[in-house]
Amino acid sequence: MNEADLAARHRAVLPSWLALYYSEPIEIVRARGRRVTDSAGNTYLDFFAGILTNAIGYDIPEISGAIRAQLDTGVLHTSTLYLIRKQVELAERIAELSGIPDAKVFFANSGTEANETALMLATQYRRSNQVLALRNSYHGRAFATVGITGNRGWAASSLSPVKVSYVHGGYRFRDAFRGLSDADYIKACTDDLRDVLQTTTSGDVAAFIAEPIQGVGGFNVPPDGLFAAFKEVLDEHGILFVSDEVQTGWGRTGEHFWGYQAHGVTPDVLTFAKGLGNGLAIGGVVARAEVMDSIQANSISTFGGNPVATAAAKATVDYLIEHDLPGNAAKLGDRLLAGLREIGERHAVVGDVRGKGLMIGIEFVAADGSPSPGVANAVLEQTRERGLLVGKGGLHNNVVRLAPPMTLTDAEATEALEILDAAIGAVR
Ligand SMILES: Cc1ncc(COP(=O)(O)O)c(C=O)c1O
Repeated sequence: MNEADLAARHRAVLPSWLALYYSEPIEIVRARGRRVTDSAGNTYLDFFAGILTNAIGYDIPEISGAIRAQLDTGVLHTSTLYLIRKQVELAERIAELSGIPDAKVFFANSGTEANETALMLATQYRRSNQVLALRNSYHGRAFATVGITGNRGWAASSLSPVKVSYVHGGYRFRDAFRGLSDADYIKACTDDLRDVLQTTTSGDVAAFIAEPIQGVGGFNVPPDGLFAAFKEVLDEHGILFVSDEVQTGWGRTGEHFWGYQAHGVTPDVLTFAKGLGNGLAIGGVVARAEVMDSIQANSISTFGGNPVATAAAKATVDYLIEHDLPGNAAKLGDRLLAGLREIGERHAVVGDVRGKGLMIGIEFVAADGSPSPGVANAVLEQTRERGLLVGKGGLHNNVVRLAPPMTLTDAEATEALEILDAAIGAVR
């Protein structure tokens, strides 16, 4: 059956708000390494990796082998009523890697559930339902996480169990403090944080939550050190810092294993998902034991941390550390950023090139500098025609996002740069 028929059936039976990429949506049916093949037989270099989730790439023997070994035991699921060896081993590894002292780990199935859990912990621990978040944030699709999502395009409801106040520091390219030096930007945002605390809260706020680099928001990178300046203010009030590492975790930013480490600060709570299972559903929370254990009731996730997902996740973490994939992300990320900045100088539609490691955003603009979602969409189509899959995002949907598997090679980086140059040139 062809892809057009499948797209029509998809639209008939699945929600209208479940958006598909491309005027002619594709179905990926085979994959290996960083390349995927659609049902029409076209092969693409994948620079979005299932939204940063196929962290290592496709058909990796070490990971498929770990999953197969678990399947061969006959045990796909037991529930957390019984001991799960891989879950314990994975929790030990993540607790140690997290940098959080006296850490405990809870496993769920997604980034949304991870952040819902973080909010549950923080609000219970602090006995407050007030939360601070960054403007232009994205933290998930359930009620509490939509409540702390500062991006109209993803705010499906205003109903929320938490009372949120938004602060600056997310989308530097267009926010109120654009154009300032790093030091002045940090000062302006920190002053804003104090002002928001004083004017929109009752002071006893539970937590501040932030993505160290905004993902859905368009790969916005705040100046290094911003969250350390914030933490000084938060500490004056006992407010917990939650680092949402759903996109920035596992070394994707190259220079560090976690995004928060660029700021010289340690969070109280850290959430993760996406890349950990290299495609299997897993997410979770790390927190200091006194925060994690503050819930005075039973709480389980039936599927969270199941034997198959934790086997895949353990193999993924082992693989990316043994092969120094954060180092590869740093090296090839620098190459891509430099190449894209050079491309950007030749194309007026490129307003900004930004990112760290293998999280790179290209913001497209109209002649007057205003956001151009039309150009971003045309680049998405043009790259696909030339054999490259990329992502989109940003408050105005005008940012093309690049986030290939962290096993990317030098030759593939060159290939992507050539395609992007031609694709952007074609829509000028
Ligand atoms: C930073 C961040 N947090 C949370 C989420 C929600 O994760 P999930 O879609 O797995 O629920 C996402 C998803 O894109 C994300 O980017």
